[in-house]
Amino acid sequence: MTGDLTCRADVEALLRRFYGRALIDDLLAEPFTEVREQGLESHLPVMCDFWETVLFGAGTYRGSAFRVHQRVRSQHPFGAEHFDRWLELWHRTVDEMYTGPHADRAKVQGAGIATSMNRRLSGLPSVAAEALRLGVPGSAPPA
Ligand code: HEM
Repeated sequence: MTGDLTCRADVEALLRRFYGRALIDDLLAEPFTEVREQGLESHLPVMCDFWETVLFGAGTYRGSAFRVHQRVRSQHPFGAEHFDRWLELWHRTVDEMYTGPHADRAKVQGAGIATSMNRRLSGLPSVAAEALRLGVPGSAPPA
């Protein structure tokens, strides 16, 4: 029986296995070229900061993930099918290693961030803005 993600060391173990897959994935290897060439070790600390902040509110990540991906995408075009693969690998890796509220949160947040990042990078309105435009009940901000 596996336990939940509880600390930065758990996040790091998860990220090592995830990037071990993503960097050599037939679809994701291309956009991850620089990370592979520079080595995972230089990429891991900032990724740990990011997930530690998302999962535990650590506040250690202060960058702009969107801007970084905008720059990556200008050199290595990637889109919805890459995000789908990213998510598939992410969910599979989380499920293999952890169970519990933080593991669930990692999957929910991964899906939410991947979706919004893909929409923003593609120039589409956010899901919330689209719901508002379509008049989905409950999507209007409080008066
Ligand atoms: C198609 C899917 C994705 C690809 C190809 C991709 C690729 C990359 C690459 C190449 C970098 C390194 C950029 C650099 O340091 O020069 C990076 C950084 C990063 N990625 Fe992704 N990524 C993807 C999805 C995601 C998702 C869904 C998340 C969050 C849930 C995420 C979070 C981050 C963060 C936090 C960084 C570090 C940003 C910084 O340096 O401040 N990525 N990504």
